[in-house]
Amino acid sequence: PIISTKQMLLDAQRRKYAVPAFNIHNLETIQVVVEIANELRSPVILAATPSTVRYAGADYLLAIGNAAASRYDIPISLHLDHSEDFDYIKMCIDLGYKSVMIDASHESFGENIRKVKRVVEYAHQRGVTVEAELGCLMGQEDDIDVSQKDAMMTDPDLAKTFVEKTGIDSLAVAIGTAHGLYKSEPKLDFKRLQEIRDKVKVPLVLHGASGVPSKSVQESIKLGICKVNIATELKIPFANAVKHYFLSNPNANDPRKYLTPGKNAMKQVVIRKIKMCYSDGKA
Ligand code: 13P
Ligand code: ZN
Ligand code: NA
Repeated sequence: PIISTKQMLLDAQRRKYAVPAFNIHNLETIQVVVEIANELRSPVILAATPSTVRYAGADYLLAIGNAAASRYDIPISLHLDHSEDFDYIKMCIDLGYKSVMIDASHESFGENIRKVKRVVEYAHQRGVTVEAELGCLMGQEDDIDVSQKDAMMTDPDLAKTFVEKTGIDSLAVAIGTAHGLYKSEPKLDFKRLQEIRDKVKVPLVLHGASGVPSKSVQESIKLGICKVNIATELKIPFANAVKHYFLSNPNANDPRKYLTPGKNAMKQVVIRKIKMCYSDGKA
């Protein structure tokens, strides 16, 4: 069955690679991710935002995650990504999800701590790992849309206090990435990341990896990033390949036929991202 992200992130931290967290939406995208992860012997995280969980059905998604985890002998986790609501997180945990993110990064420091702590208390009693974010990423991720003026980099000293007070298992940091693609190449604040790493012992998480040059992601892995979140760069080639298929086959109506080019296009990205994370051969 699916597992928490505890051991996989600690292993990544110890062996200096990152576990890729791919945002999935349905059976097809999960199939692509776990098939390739298995071929490359990479531990992998299937990330689902609350709106994905609502779309697919929390129970369906969990069942597919568990089926994938019994089919392949690599570490596979199903992770609730960017959830803002305790009751929703509780529902997923009660159902059997083993890894969650509570995103209260838009709240004040005190309120962020309070909300995260409540989730940690509930989750840890049930063997579930918790990721939280300090600082705030710009851009749009499903229902959350953050403008430039509301975005904020992670403060290293506050990060230390935040981790100590909340007891989280991993910390999402804001060091210059944004959700979605970029208008110009993003410049990551590696000095800040280094300072956070020096003060914080738990594995660090990089959100918004789509559009970030591989070299920058790899530099951040050297500096302590243990989980890399990728969504947009999977969605675009999938959609483009399906659009292209319909353009050349306007009468197509068999989902097994018109979804296959999308899956194949997505596969190539998953291969590249696993290699970028140095997670191949680590399972
Ligand atoms: P991107 O869409 O930029 O890859 O961000 C993904 C993410 O952070 C999911 O939580
Ligand atoms: Zn994110
Ligand atoms: Na991005």
